[in-house]
Amino acid sequence: MSAYDYIPKLYNVRFEAPEGGKQSEEFFLADIDGKPTRFNIHDYKSLYAVPWLYDIALYHTLSCETPTEMSAAIKGVWEQNGVDPSQLRFLELGAGSGVFGHEIKNTLKVPHLVGLDIEPNAKLAAERDRPGLYEDYLVADLTALEPSSRAVLEGGKFNVVGMASATGWGNHIPVAGFEQGFALLESGGWFIFHVKPQDPDPECIALNDWVNEKISSGALLEKYRASHFHRESSGGGKIYYDVVLGIKA
Ligand SMILES: C[S@@+](CC[C@H](N)C(=O)[O-])C[C@H]1O[C@@H](n2cnc3c(N)ncnc32)[C@H](O)[C@@H]1O
Repeated sequence: MSAYDYIPKLYNVRFEAPEGGKQSEEFFLADIDGKPTRFNIHDYKSLYAVPWLYDIALYHTLSCETPTEMSAAIKGVWEQNGVDPSQLRFLELGAGSGVFGHEIKNTLKVPHLVGLDIEPNAKLAAERDRPGLYEDYLVADLTALEPSSRAVLEGGKFNVVGMASATGWGNHIPVAGFEQGFALLESGGWFIFHVKPQDPDPECIALNDWVNEKISSGALLEKYRASHFHRESSGGGKIYYDVVLGIKA
């Protein structure tokens, strides 16, 4: 029994192992319309185009647990801090097909949830596979917001900005996107993410530096940090990230 059993097991996903040296160099085969088709796990455009494919590959085949690990940690911290979820307005960055959004709505009981992703097929997947989950879903590059998206986001008065599985390793949200996400959060609001410590990827190093600077300067008050299982690699290794929750000064 898994919290991800609601994701239908539509495809037999077979990863190529061993994987390359980077998390972005993992490939798998799935039979789509009866034809074996090869996918890279960071090729979001192609993955989200196929119903539930990203979710099946990550949450069934690679046993990813980040959405449930993060939501359990958040629930505990919010309870300790007397947070009333009914008062929260959550902006989810790099929302993808909505698997973390599912936990935000169903486990954390946050009523107002807006998603944002750079990839148009992410919005398509979320609306196709999880209709009604997001109050609004913007297709936008967080590092280069158009004035129309900026106006919508600034009007959102978000008191939580969070993201799951959307940091580091290329094709994910870089430091400039974190800075923009942080700017869209109201003072006193919760900033929630996970980050891979001690990783050679330049984006991870830059992100760890950014986080450390935000905390040491007092801009972000760290309320929680702990290592959590993320997922298996296609070669069977175990990947862990630090889940971080902080309050914006
Ligand atoms: C690994 S997926 C995570 C999806 C989802 N959060 C989950 O937990 O399954 C990372 C997402 O970040 C999005 N992304 C990458 N760069 C972005 C940017 N600059 N602005 C907005 N979204 C971005 C990608 O398109 C992708 O959907």
